[in-house]
Amino acid sequence: MKIVPLIPENAPFSVEQRAWLNGFLAGVLNRGAAPNGAASAESKRPLLIAFGSQSGNAESLAKRLAREATGRGFAARAAGLDSLQPAELVKEENVLLITSTWGEGDMPDNAVSFWDSINQNGSSPRLDGVQFSVLALGDKNYGDTFCLAGKKLDTRLEELGAKRIVDRVDCDVEFDDLAKKWSASAFTALTGSTAPVASTDPEEEAGFTKKNPFPAKLIDNTPLNARGSSKDTRHIGFSLAGSGLNYEVGDALGVFVQNCPEVVDAVIAAHGFDPQAEVALPDGGSAALREALIKHYEVRSHFGKAPEAGLTLAVFMENLRKLQPRLYSIASSSKAHADEVHLCIAAVRYSTDGVVHKGVASTYLADRLSLGETTGIYFHPANHFRLPTDLTKPVIMVGPGTGIAPFRAFLEERQATQAPGKNWLFFGDQKRASDFLYHDQIIEWVQNGHLTRLDTAFSRDQEEKIYVQTRMLQAASELWQWLEEGAHFYVCGDAKRMAKDVDEALHSIIQTAGGKSADEAAAYVAQMKKEKRYARDVY
Ligand SMILES: Cc1cc2nc3c(=O)[nH]c(=O)nc-3n(C[C@H](O)[C@H](O)[C@H](O)COP(=O)(O)OP(=O)(O)OC[C@H]3O[C@@H](n4cnc5c(N)ncnc54)[C@H](O)[C@@H]3O)c2cc1C
Ligand SMILES: NC(=O)c1ccc[n+]([C@@H]2O[C@H](COP(=O)([O-])OP(=O)(O)OC[C@H]3O[C@@H](n4cnc5c(N)ncnc54)[C@H](OP(=O)(O)O)[C@@H]3O)[C@@H](O)[C@H]2O)c1
Ligand SMILES: Cc1cc2nc3c(=O)[nH]c(=O)nc-3n(C[C@H](O)[C@H](O)[C@H](O)COP(=O)(O)O)c2cc1C
Repeated sequence: MKIVPLIPENAPFSVEQRAWLNGFLAGVLNRGAAPNGAASAESKRPLLIAFGSQSGNAESLAKRLAREATGRGFAARAAGLDSLQPAELVKEENVLLITSTWGEGDMPDNAVSFWDSINQNGSSPRLDGVQFSVLALGDKNYGDTFCLAGKKLDTRLEELGAKRIVDRVDCDVEFDDLAKKWSASAFTALTGSTAPVASTDPEEEAGFTKKNPFPAKLIDNTPLNARGSSKDTRHIGFSLAGSGLNYEVGDALGVFVQNCPEVVDAVIAAHGFDPQAEVALPDGGSAALREALIKHYEVRSHFGKAPEAGLTLAVFMENLRKLQPRLYSIASSSKAHADEVHLCIAAVRYSTDGVVHKGVASTYLADRLSLGETTGIYFHPANHFRLPTDLTKPVIMVGPGTGIAPFRAFLEERQATQAPGKNWLFFGDQKRASDFLYHDQIIEWVQNGHLTRLDTAFSRDQEEKIYVQTRMLQAASELWQWLEEGAHFYVCGDAKRMAKDVDEALHSIIQTAGGKSADEAAAYVAQMKKEKRYARDVY
């Protein structure tokens, strides 16, 4: 519903001035939001907070903002871009759009079809009556593709005639503060009100969160590869006892980690710094340099290799980024393991120019955190990656390498809930003899019929590479049949190569086994995404 503005659009005011005046006059006339944000139910100003989100950050922000906006007197709703058609957007008066960037400068999965439809020249409707602002989430480590999805959407909305009320804000990994500033500016522009409102966000008040992580005890660290493997994948378990925490299968776990002390010592020595020098911490306070580098800043072994001559400690510190917790797909169902959460982690170790580098988090968990010790954890919901609520629906899971993690959880959950739907798993890794992760559990599921079908692809057991998508293509007609029965299709693991190739194979199967053209196959896949029957947890 559009509210007729009291100050007409052609009046000689800026958008912000007009918004403020409208808010003021509406308050006076009791027919809209008052300047202090209060509004009568029938006259609430509509606000759509649209999100493009892969791993849930933009989605949580959008939902939090919708609650805050409701408190400010808006008729606010948060909606994924996959649930919006450009034709519907035309009817919106106020749109705040929050999106992450994924892959290599790509739209998050739930924004792809929306982007495709507004980006087609000539076919997208004009958005002249829409006021908007974009908040872009990203990571500066991605260089040129930093916040690219948000930048593209921001430009395109303007090209279509929508009016930008507040400049786009691009956020690096630490997005909370910038997001708050952006939303405050947006609310000011939309209402003219700057009056503070009490936080309505229950997440900020109680429980263990990213800001207040639970110190979880490490209770399991079991190698999953056998002798002869070139990989080091670990089954990691944390105790949740006493936390009151629970999770859903599909969620990820955030884990706070520490740098390797040897790497930190080498970096300090290479620069000639005093390890005990007092330095500022990223969130306030101070600590000795060595402790600060182990616990609070990203430190890469590369830093110790080529220190800049004459680099002062102050300049060195200015260029450091805060150490970030890492996300891991949860590999267990709480119905099968009460008070525990399990992960499947590939230890990252590689050499460049003869120097061995260690992934910070994966080697902290694999090598440095001892059983019985604790580290901070929090749950990161993944609402886009859920089992079907209809337990009779078939599921197809494609999870090579550590991509198996959420599917172990899904299969445990489907067993615990006695879901009658069929289960099909595609698993792959380098060698059957050494890299068949969770072999015994998976084979037991095949034997007791819980896994209706298992296809494995061991890439290095023969001359030619056999990958999960090879197996999908070989099973094309049965896979098509499952899709036609309403199967949900899930992919987890490597984003750069595997997930793209699997997507291509899916399109190809729909064409060959389903007898569709390339365009029809694309439409079929888009429809699956819309129905939330195609979900990816890729990294
Ligand atoms: C939603 C989500 C779920 C995830 N789930 C899982 C999971 O279930 N299991 C899992 O193991 N991981 C998972 N990850 C990845 C995980 O979060 C970490 O990124 C991973 O463990 C590496 O972190 P690290 O701190 O050990 O490595 P870092 O210290 O962050 O180092 C990794 C970086 O090292 C560089 N690098 C790595 N390998 C090479 C190489 N061969 N040559 C040159 N440079 C290289 C790259 O720049 C890479 O970004 C997930 C990520 C996300 C976002
Ligand atoms: N963000 C990070 O820092 C980070 C950390 C850990 C893992 N990862 C990503 O997550 C992935 C998972 O690592 P992982 O060790 O569990 O498994 P992985 O490296 O993905 O390997 C699992 C299997 O997938 C195969 N594979 C390689 N290319 C493929 C392709 N294009 N399509 C389908 N399968 C393909 C591999 O074969 P071959 O090896 O024989 O080619 C192997 O058999 C890694 O590839 C990596 O990209 C990222
Ligand atoms: C696999 C992967 C790829 C990413 N690619 C980019 C990128 O190309 N550019 C960028 O700015 N950020 C990139 N990011 C960072 C995300 O945009 C950032 O983590 C964001 O907060 C995620 O929000 P979401 O949970 O709503 O998807 C990437 C993150 C991951 C894990």
